[in-house]
Amino acid sequence: MQKLSIKDLELKSKRVFIRVDFNVPVKEGKVGDDTRIRAALPTIQYAIDQGGRLVVASHLGRPSGRRVEKFSLKPVAEHLSTLVGKRADFAEDCIGEAAQSRAQALQDGDLLLLENLRFHKEEEQNDDHFSKQLASLCDGVYVSDAFGAAHRAHASTVGITKHVTKAAAGLLMQKELDYLGRVITNPEHPFVAILGGAKVSDKIPVINALIERGVDKILIGGAMAYTFLKAEGFTVGKSLVEDDMLQTALEVKTRAEEKGIELLLPTDHQVVDSYEPVKGEKIIAKTIPIEFTNLGHAGMDIGVETVSHFSNALRDARTIIWNGPMGVFEEPPFNEGTLAIAHAVAEAADRGAIVIVGGGDSVAAITQAGVADRITHISTGGGATLEFLAGEELPGVTALNDK
Ligand code: 3PG
Repeated sequence: MQKLSIKDLELKSKRVFIRVDFNVPVKEGKVGDDTRIRAALPTIQYAIDQGGRLVVASHLGRPSGRRVEKFSLKPVAEHLSTLVGKRADFAEDCIGEAAQSRAQALQDGDLLLLENLRFHKEEEQNDDHFSKQLASLCDGVYVSDAFGAAHRAHASTVGITKHVTKAAAGLLMQKELDYLGRVITNPEHPFVAILGGAKVSDKIPVINALIERGVDKILIGGAMAYTFLKAEGFTVGKSLVEDDMLQTALEVKTRAEEKGIELLLPTDHQVVDSYEPVKGEKIIAKTIPIEFTNLGHAGMDIGVETVSHFSNALRDARTIIWNGPMGVFEEPPFNEGTLAIAHAVAEAADRGAIVIVGGGDSVAAITQAGVADRITHISTGGGATLEFLAGEELPGVTALNDK
């Protein structure tokens, strides 16, 4: 069902509550990767251009219902001001007098960012009174652009919608639903999924949903590949494995094979002898075939042969989704496999494939590899993207009005 869009709303001189996902890295008072902020700019700019009075709200981190300075959104307000090219006012609290007086003072086209919603425990509890307090900051108009938080049934994503007249999707929310929706309902074939990251358990619902929806190939890298490899009888040494998922991994592999889906695992990898380098000593990494792995090895990244197999598997793809790194991305040189995949998916996009990338490290790899502008859609969701692709309902989407 199509959701009401921000474009269906009358915003002139109205205070509009815009829930965004500005859950971005902040270090020493400065915003790091600002992909999520930039992604919400079209909605913010549209609302400004329409003469709306913008009350923008987000969470940052997991402060557990307490005021924790390192999770303040103040640096984000400054960063936002630079990106929008006009000053974003900042309210030291998301409810109460501080927020009310600033929201009341807004003129047409003005912008206010509220302090972190999660400084109040009532946010995550989806508390009705708190939801009402948030709603009182606007003139009955609510817009959600927080796709990344749409899998959370919180006061600002769900509760507030009961206390406004109109609850609509922002432009980023629409774009996410449009691209991801197309992938799960009507993908162009061959359809290839690349999955990585540490845990198989996080990805099983997505893998099952992809198998049901007729994916053609699944490429598995990252630590999660070791659970599959061990289940098949390979020695994986000290590599990360979820022993309680071995049986599940085998079942998934069998189900994929029964449906004629190729499930590709690494054939070589970069290994070290110890996770804990001896002080002052350089980490010595070497690339070996999977079957040469001994009990002392710990796998850190896919090897060049695997990169080449995976790249070949992408050659004729028409739709590609990628979520999760191929190795320990944050520790070079173990980012090489992930960066190589970033180039491979960009080349597939150049050949006309629809390429959708989600998840922190895969998105960071796309940026680091300098290929972001060649990717069809970079999803701002982490958990939300995975839940959506697994066919689960996102409460923050369901709560919006239908068109
Ligand atoms: C995310 O980073 O995936 C979203 O902002 C949701 O954050 P959360 O997992 O802390 O709810």
